[in-house]
Amino acid sequence: MARFTLPRDLYFGKGAIENLKSFKGKKAMIVVGGGSMKRFGFLQKAEDCLKEAGMEVALFEGVEPDPSVETVMKGAQAMLDFGPDWIVAIGGGSPIDAAKAMWIKYEYPDCTFEDMCKVFGIPELRKKAKFCAISSTSGTATEVTAFSIITDYSKGIKYPIADFEITPDVAIVDPDLAETMPQKLVAHTGMDAITHAVEAYVSTANSNYSDPLAIHAIEMIQADLVDSYNGDMAARDRMHDAQCLAGMAFSNALLGIVHSMAHKTGAAFADYGAHIIHGAANAMYLPKVIAFNAKDPTAKKRYGVIADYMNLGGANDDEKVDLLIKFLRKMNDDLKIPHCIKNYGADSYPVEQGFVPEEVFLERLPEIAKNAIGDACTGSNPRQPSQEEMEKLLKCCYYDTEVDF
Ligand SMILES: NC(=O)c1ccc[n+]([C@@H]2O[C@H](COP(=O)([O-])OP(=O)(O)OC[C@H]3O[C@@H](n4cnc5c(N)ncnc54)[C@H](O)[C@@H]3O)[C@@H](O)[C@H]2O)c1
Ligand SMILES: [Zn+2]
Repeated sequence: MARFTLPRDLYFGKGAIENLKSFKGKKAMIVVGGGSMKRFGFLQKAEDCLKEAGMEVALFEGVEPDPSVETVMKGAQAMLDFGPDWIVAIGGGSPIDAAKAMWIKYEYPDCTFEDMCKVFGIPELRKKAKFCAISSTSGTATEVTAFSIITDYSKGIKYPIADFEITPDVAIVDPDLAETMPQKLVAHTGMDAITHAVEAYVSTANSNYSDPLAIHAIEMIQADLVDSYNGDMAARDRMHDAQCLAGMAFSNALLGIVHSMAHKTGAAFADYGAHIIHGAANAMYLPKVIAFNAKDPTAKKRYGVIADYMNLGGANDDEKVDLLIKFLRKMNDDLKIPHCIKNYGADSYPVEQGFVPEEVFLERLPEIAKNAIGDACTGSNPRQPSQEEMEKLLKCCYYDTEVDF
């Protein structure tokens, strides 16, 4: 028995944000990030539409990229003070994810961050408020997913909160918001999206419901990501839909160890100035994990199917897996993303010697590997890595060496 859950309503296409005007409620709290939504006028637009719907509106501004537990607690307090019956989160994955966690704490003030992290253990929400997410990046698809990623900076670890309770009630996928993304953000979020689709397709929780979404997303991203990066706005608009389809797939089929590793390396070297951006981490690790997972016959076959849909050629599954890996590595080159942590430099550009010194990486490796194995995304990966295998895999991701185990 399985479950497939999506938002009740999804508004898409240019100008979709205007649908806020039809919302019914008394008080809306808008949760937003550091300034891009304000700068480009989308915050004002959302506020105006909600006011036109007859609602009193309050703002919670300034959610940082990779939001912290502290921000979640502050936002929840603001909600408790204001008492909204709608929470409207607008921006990238960070403000939307933060708002989801604030929502839990708003509905259940006694719930601790630790309680929230119990996978599929969130109590029933919507007693106080409904939730609408309006995404401005084309990657996380958090507007349709059952996930929220919050960082505990005291531990240097990202924790996924996972429960269908936090799947938004309404998703607004308006490509106008994605058009203002700078090039780097397009690259990172786009590689995040293709990783979602590939991991969902080979996940042990894949299904007839998630497969078509994942495959179609992969085909669209193959067609449009690099053009979107190079400034083609029609491709940018299509990418906004593609990433959302990938999100619908992975929210239900779950992910795999690319994400486990990204979650556990993302903030692990922050003290060296290396915040490994989520999408860049995925882009570096995905080809390595494909090589590792392809030792599992079912996964290998499924990667072969992906390669077929992408028209990559190959006479057998081994060749198809190789071609898929080559294709993804070429995508990294086109998007100027490094292939490994060793070469991960400022703004994620490839450099000769990146932020993370070799000895620091090696010293922290056992702990990171242990944490990655324990990540919520590991359970649905087609191959369960041992501690030794995870350490070897992470080393391949550091040095860009071949995965032959
Ligand atoms: N909930 C999920 O299912 C899920 C899935 C994958 C990743 N994540 C998490 O989401 C976070 C990353 O989110 P993200 O990649 O969307 O980036 P983000 O929300 O962290 O935003 C990154 C930067 O881009 C700016 N920005 C956002 N939209 C813009 C636009 N349209 N124009 C100009 N600037 C814009 C922001 O102001 C910010 O400075 C990470 O914490 C990651 O772990 C969540
Ligand atoms: Zn992701």
